[in-house]
Amino acid sequence: MYVPKNVVTNQDLTNYMDTSDEWIQERTGIKERRYADRTKETTATMGVEAAKMAIERAGITAADIDFIVFATLSPDYYFPGCGVLLQRAMQMKEIGALDVRNQCSGFIYALSVADQFIKSGMYKNILVVGSEKHSFGLDMSTRGRNVSVIFGDGAGAVVLQPTNEDRGILSTHLHSDGHDAEVLAMYNPGSHANYWREGLADFDESTIADMFVSKEMVEKEQFYPSMDGQAVFKKAVVKFPEVIMEALNQNGHSPSDLKLVIPHQANLRISQFVQHKLKLRDDQVYNNIQRYGNTTAASIPIALCEAWQEGKIDKGDLVCLAAFGSGFTWASALLKW
Ligand SMILES: CC(C)(COP(=O)(O)OP(=O)(O)OC[C@H]1O[C@@H](n2cnc3c(N)ncnc32)[C@H](O)[C@@H]1OP(=O)(O)O)[C@@H](O)C(=O)NCCC(=O)NCCS
Repeated sequence: MYVPKNVVTNQDLTNYMDTSDEWIQERTGIKERRYADRTKETTATMGVEAAKMAIERAGITAADIDFIVFATLSPDYYFPGCGVLLQRAMQMKEIGALDVRNQCSGFIYALSVADQFIKSGMYKNILVVGSEKHSFGLDMSTRGRNVSVIFGDGAGAVVLQPTNEDRGILSTHLHSDGHDAEVLAMYNPGSHANYWREGLADFDESTIADMFVSKEMVEKEQFYPSMDGQAVFKKAVVKFPEVIMEALNQNGHSPSDLKLVIPHQANLRISQFVQHKLKLRDDQVYNNIQRYGNTTAASIPIALCEAWQEGKIDKGDLVCLAAFGSGFTWASALLKW
């Protein structure tokens, strides 16, 4: 894992917007988050830092990696994706680099893709990265406070390899429901031209051809993420337990068999709901949102890394990763460590 040095506390945010440490902690559990160096760090460079560590811990070199899967919703460029930027920065061979765009579920989607390539025998050392530089695209005024206080920057990475031992990724479970695609989204700039919903961008029909970025869009600051927090919350507390149970049921396990659930760090209250619903003990659910906020595609590998470093996962332990987010998409992965 890699997180930027710059710690931004809830109190620091009060310099920009009408909010308070009390409100943020009470609603989300977050105390502080990290913000990347504005000009020296990008989503790709943070991904590289996490990748270097994962490769070293796997006991291989960058030259051994035969496929990259990079998940992010805050890419360095609209295109090309961050996978090729990482391939270039790490001077890797001319291997495939796939970018995954599944927001908060991005890391599990990426892991699932990599898992299929490993199980089919196509690749032997796959680098899976989740990285986000949210701080560059947040509305730091009071208008954007419901979104901005939640998100933070960081990166995490893993290397997947085949094994003949009875352990590894037992199964992955991926879901989506696009009905509420606009409930948590960044609409602009984009090519939608208000096709799906009225009023996502304010423009004159006659200038539609020039609409990728319009003057009005910039003047009205329509390029920030938008979220109906309560709608996300309500769906998340249903889908998290459901997708964890799906993974357990498929493998003949029950919640009491779990050493650890590592939920995507969306909101401490959501994790507590999930814990309560599945009747899990405190030591069975890992949370570090207090220190990093929601780092979207990076949150699960960051939490996995910290849990492992803290000795909370041993060989043979049953670990469930689970996520829910924009799309909506949700997913789980059951691992025997
Ligand atoms: C975002 C979230 C914390 C907001 O909490 P909430 O209890 O739903 O709050 P609401 O949006 O209903 O807003 C309640 C009030 O707090 C205000 N408010 C919103 N953000 C605030 C902030 N950062 N500081 C202070 N007040 C804030 C609102 O303006 C509103 O004020 P009003 O009652 O005067 O209109 C919560 O909905 C949530 O966490 N949802 C899930 C979001 C999530 O996980 N997103 C990532 C998906 S993976």
